[in-house]
Amino acid sequence: MKKLVILISGRGSNMEAIVRASIPDAMIAAVIANKPTAAGLDFARAQGIEAQVVDHTGYANRDAFDEALAAAIDRHEPDLVVLAGFMRVLGDDFVRRYEGRMINIHPSLLPSFPGLHTHRKAIEAGVRLHGATVHFVTPTLDCGPIIAQTAVAVSADDSEASLAEKVLAQEHIIYPQAVRWFVEGRLRVDGNRVTVTDARLPCEGWIVPLPDA
Ligand code: GAR
Repeated sequence: MKKLVILISGRGSNMEAIVRASIPDAMIAAVIANKPTAAGLDFARAQGIEAQVVDHTGYANRDAFDEALAAAIDRHEPDLVVLAGFMRVLGDDFVRRYEGRMINIHPSLLPSFPGLHTHRKAIEAGVRLHGATVHFVTPTLDCGPIIAQTAVAVSADDSEASLAEKVLAQEHIIYPQAVRWFVEGRLRVDGNRVTVTDARLPCEGWIVPLPDA
């Protein structure tokens, strides 16, 4: 059994998708939010999952917050830390502590459009394909070895909101899948390249892993 701790900041729909996926051999030990108002906390509690708040406003600086957050996480001794719409930048020491066992979902086809407002940036850039990326977390923001990506077409009449909705629906497919691969021990990291052993190829829907050599 692999233990997961999921970090959220708000709605928590990706966390919900992961919980609803009922991944065999995965146990969600806790959902932790940096905001007491994070709506996803209610869903977690309703599922009987321990839901906790480490409010970043209660700490003098990032290091103090990171330390408190790490203590809250480590209490559960997780095998995997899952950032699911967690919108605080984490310090290098924190990231290194969970190296190889912390993953994030970002709403763009990285390395395009790191940071905020990814859907607006995609429309402004005139790209025809946009999407989402699941990656291991490294100290550089929205960087790190890519586990899986999913793409959606950008239509001429797409707004920021309509594009966000299309991408989010794909996030809810790709993130539970990536977590499942981790739990099954099927991810191999070699530098920037992640391979998924025994992934069905050429691809599963729009989910595109690298074949293992
Ligand atoms: C998701 O679109 C996720 O990709 C994004 O925030 C949203 C959270 O939604 N994350 C980032 O932008 C991280 N850089 P959710 O709370 O409903 O899962």
